[in-house]
Amino acid sequence: MNITVIGTGYVGLVTGACFSKMGNKVYCVDIVEEKIQGLKNNILPIFEPHLGTVVRTSQEKGDLIFTTDIKEALDNTDIIFIAVGTPMAEDGSANLDYIFSAASDIANNITRDSLVVIKSTVPVGTGFKVRDHINAILDERDSDVTIKIASNPEFLKEGHAIEDCLHPDRVVIGAEDEEVFETLKDLYATFVLNHDRFVLMDIKSSEMTKYVANSMLATKISFMNEIANICEVTGADVQSVRLGIGSDRRIGYDFIYAGCGYGGSCFPKDVQALINTAQENGYEPKILSNVELVNKNQKMVLVNKVVDRFGEDLTGLTFAVWGLAFKPGTDDVREATSLVVISELIKRGAKIKAYDSQATEEFTRAIDDECLPSIEFKANRYEALDDADALILITEWKEFRNPDFDFLLEELTEKVIFDGRNIYDKKIQNKGFELYQIGC
Ligand SMILES: NC(=O)c1ccc[n+]([C@@H]2O[C@H](COP(=O)([O-])OP(=O)(O)OC[C@H]3O[C@@H](n4cnc5c(N)ncnc54)[C@H](O)[C@@H]3O)[C@@H](O)[C@H]2O)c1
Repeated sequence: MNITVIGTGYVGLVTGACFSKMGNKVYCVDIVEEKIQGLKNNILPIFEPHLGTVVRTSQEKGDLIFTTDIKEALDNTDIIFIAVGTPMAEDGSANLDYIFSAASDIANNITRDSLVVIKSTVPVGTGFKVRDHINAILDERDSDVTIKIASNPEFLKEGHAIEDCLHPDRVVIGAEDEEVFETLKDLYATFVLNHDRFVLMDIKSSEMTKYVANSMLATKISFMNEIANICEVTGADVQSVRLGIGSDRRIGYDFIYAGCGYGGSCFPKDVQALINTAQENGYEPKILSNVELVNKNQKMVLVNKVVDRFGEDLTGLTFAVWGLAFKPGTDDVREATSLVVISELIKRGAKIKAYDSQATEEFTRAIDDECLPSIEFKANRYEALDDADALILITEWKEFRNPDFDFLLEELTEKVIFDGRNIYDKKIQNKGFELYQIGC
């Protein structure tokens, strides 16, 4: 099939690359010229394992075309995926400016009947608004082109995106007629060869499904973080509790680790957008509001532990920070806990030596400029320890799991570790470390 993907970010680029790997001809369109020029030369705008190989191979075969010319793409394709960003607006709702701008671009350039599939995460009802918006422009143009609309939310995880895209747990499709379901099932058939993983529904339910999936996962995380905080004040061990409840198959082991808060481009904004949708429709969502609140507070837990140990005034102290990305496997720092922890410590007079193998560049763009003079970015994890009083672990990259503890002991002036992801065995306390973890 011939496909256009509008928006060449985490989702659009990965989706386009994976469709092309399956032999489809894919036009990936973006408005950022620099990004498209880089991609034409196989320079990726994001860090995502295995993506580079797929992009290079598909470009060499001519199956993947990067362009800023949407007309060229639309003239050659019948299925158009919209995968532009839907960031959080100031009032917490989803900002749909990019969606409607992409819809206008489609309407102003389309010359053949097509299926428009919304892959971006959008509030319930957006699909129909996009269809009306495109039709209004087509009417103005006196065009006889007809478009159909569908919803096909994306469930990939950054850091695991290629695998998730090539082997999805499920493919959710929201549509209004059988022909659209069949078209999209044909397109995805190559991804789900060994068994049918399609979940078919109406468009509004499909749009809602994506928000509910992210909100449920965020709820599990905040719930467990709240339990960790209760464990801490009562003396129970949250790690034991996790094992105790995870073994119940109705609960499961996933997403019940205590930590220093979730971030990323999806959970915070999607929980907030669902809160907004509910409120706009006259319903006050108490659980969701508190999922957000617990998470906001959880991002301060490490800061509070540092202050409890070293005092409110951190002048003269240097903290090594391991991990800046919102999670391992990505360079994405959107809503990352590192942004909160580092700026709060600097506000109290601390100096920071930070290391992350992938996210440093994005972090320097995202952190307040006034913090930058207080941060030294290091090329490896051990350099960050140089002259540091304590280590703060924020992102559980694998390279941090089993470091040379003897070296840490020599380097850290105060031998203190704040482990924001509970990855260290408490046995390291016997080596002479003061270890602070979440829920302890
Ligand atoms: N990042 C994830 O892990 C993830 C996972 C599932 C779903 N989603 C959802 O997918 C959507 C995209 O997320 P993302 O992280 O890929 O966003 P992103 O910000 O990384 O990328 C969006 C891209 O769209 C481009 N763009 C904006 N307007 C455009 C236009 N009119 N024409 C062409 N290109 C345009 C931007 O330049 C950018 O390159 C969001 O709704 C997000 O919630 C994201």
